[in-house]
Amino acid sequence: MDDRVYIFDTTLRDGEQSPGVSLNVNEKIEIARQLTRLGVDIIEAGFPVASPGDFAAVKITAAEVKGATIAALARANRDDIDRAWEAVREAESPRIHTFIATSEIHLRHKLRMSREEVLEAAIAAVKYARRYLSDVEFSAEDAFRSDHDFLCQVLEAVIAAGATTVNIPDTVGYATPQEFHDFIRDVFLKVPNIDQAVVSVHCHNDLGLAVTNSLAAIQAGARQVECTINGIGERAGNAALEEIVMALYARQDLYGKKTGIRTEEIYRTSKLVSKLTGMKIQPNKAIVGQNAFAHESGIHQDGVLKERSTYEIMNPELIGRSLNTIVLGKHSGRHAFRESLSALGYELNEEEINRVFQRFKIVVDRKKEITDKDLRAIVEEEILRIPEVYRLAYLHVSSGTTVVPTATIGLQKDGEELDEAACGDGPVDAIYKAIDKITGIPCTLISYAIDALTAGKDALGEVTVKVRSNSTATVYTGRGVSPDILEASAKAYINAINRTIYSDNGGKAPDRLKADL
Ligand code: KIV
Ligand code: ZN
Repeated sequence: MDDRVYIFDTTLRDGEQSPGVSLNVNEKIEIARQLTRLGVDIIEAGFPVASPGDFAAVKITAAEVKGATIAALARANRDDIDRAWEAVREAESPRIHTFIATSEIHLRHKLRMSREEVLEAAIAAVKYARRYLSDVEFSAEDAFRSDHDFLCQVLEAVIAAGATTVNIPDTVGYATPQEFHDFIRDVFLKVPNIDQAVVSVHCHNDLGLAVTNSLAAIQAGARQVECTINGIGERAGNAALEEIVMALYARQDLYGKKTGIRTEEIYRTSKLVSKLTGMKIQPNKAIVGQNAFAHESGIHQDGVLKERSTYEIMNPELIGRSLNTIVLGKHSGRHAFRESLSALGYELNEEEINRVFQRFKIVVDRKKEITDKDLRAIVEEEILRIPEVYRLAYLHVSSGTTVVPTATIGLQKDGEELDEAACGDGPVDAIYKAIDKITGIPCTLISYAIDALTAGKDALGEVTVKVRSNSTATVYTGRGVSPDILEASAKAYINAINRTIYSDNGGKAPDRLKADL
């Protein structure tokens, strides 16, 4: 099908390489499941040799997430490839993605290898991976800055060795659209066996051109694009999946290409990734930003009210941006609750529904109307909960313009209640100091952000914090949701502390996998 473009999502690998992002196994699986609902063709689940946590995440994703090809990254050597295979072998449709750099800069300064050695390593890696499986992707790292003839020589050789996809990355985001188009076009002209592989591109966003370059490559014949949700990734990130997909959709007249993406899942996926990575979406971000469909000026509002197409090239509903409708209230019963969950696309088991329902009852007592956004926040908080070593028992805060902010807090641990009080520069500082006194875990708060999940005065406040463990320097994201922003602040910090404990205990993998690590 020449009009089909394959979507290779690397949110869990390149995206997770974003500074300050660290996802635990459960969060990665949750994202992978949502990516299959979104309809991506390939999920790059991680780089198994990088750490035992990465290995575990890929292995569990491969075993549990069905409906997409699961790829594991490996450098062009046998150890990496063995580890990648061990991690993906249980997938319904596994792929090994092996790579080596081809540019002179990388050869001379990083690899310290000659062209002949790189060529040999690339061929050997593909042949070795093919002993395990038939779906092998080869990437020529820093391809765009490579000598074109050498790149073509490598691509021809790896295809002959059995690579079924060849990926041409602009690793440092240096290309411009016309150049990248011509670069890819020339690959088609110069590599005689190119029709035996899918040509893929992988663009970074250092000059803000990742999406445009990917689209230019599609026009030149590329049929796989590697991208991430919200464009997260190394440095300035990767090409944003939602922008590529919607450009192909909205400009079908120009590109004439289709993807397998269910566009109505885009917004939910974007929110989930933003929430779990703690990476906020800029308000004016195309497609998924808060303002992407907001019409501010009177002339625009008037136009849209008369006829949407005056100022809208696509409907917000197309990407699953609902109108924040009220779905439930105080008197809603289990039946309505269950229906609302499935209308939002959640497929929960009985035990999960019970947990979420209990939580809903508590929230609805304090907030009369529960909207779809509130419900999503509740579900995601409950379902993605990691073991709560510490749990908030109570919180009392005294603050104002003429008093020293003071917090008294009680945390539950192993059935025991631990209490402390502290003063701070503000109420949140006081709360965090009191929590530190109880837990005694050395860590540093590096960012704090608060969002109203809905518009009303009784909106649920969502606090996201990033905390760096002083012992491992790993950054953990914590989230807390409550109609009371101080309670949400306390919960977010406790959540981050619980994550450090979970991870320090080797808890990145569920128990059943620990033996494999
Ligand atoms: O940017 C890059 O070149 C990569 C490769 C490993 C595909 O991420
Ligand atoms: Zn990359």
